Amino acid sequence: MEEGVARAVDGMDLTIKHGSTLGLIGESGCGKSVTAFSILQLVPSPPGRITEGKILF
Ligand SMILES: Nc1ncnc2c1ncn2[C@@H]1O[C@H](COP(=O)(O)OP(=O)(O)OP(=O)(O)O)[C@@H](O)[C@H]1O
Ligand SMILES: [Mg+2]
Repeated sequence: MEEGVARAVDGMDLTIKHGSTLGLIGESGCGKSVTAFSILQLVPSPPGRITEGKILF
């Protein structure tokens, strides 16, 4: 197996207005779950790592 960083999610920019709901749709493996885990700070670390970006509540 090749070593290095596997980018599970690479580039995500979204805004959810207060009181609203956002549905995330995409093919299997496109990164929906990892995106949600990242927002909730629930990416298991190690091996997971949020390398950059910010989340504002
Ligand atoms: N713990 C992990 N270690 C390595 N790669 C992972 C891990 N979890 C997810 N991935 C990879 O990250 C990418 C995104 O996975 P994710 O589970 O977010 O997809 P998904 O859109 O939620 O898919 P599905 O619709 O099948 O639930 C995939 O390539 C997946 O293989
Ligand atoms: Mg999923």
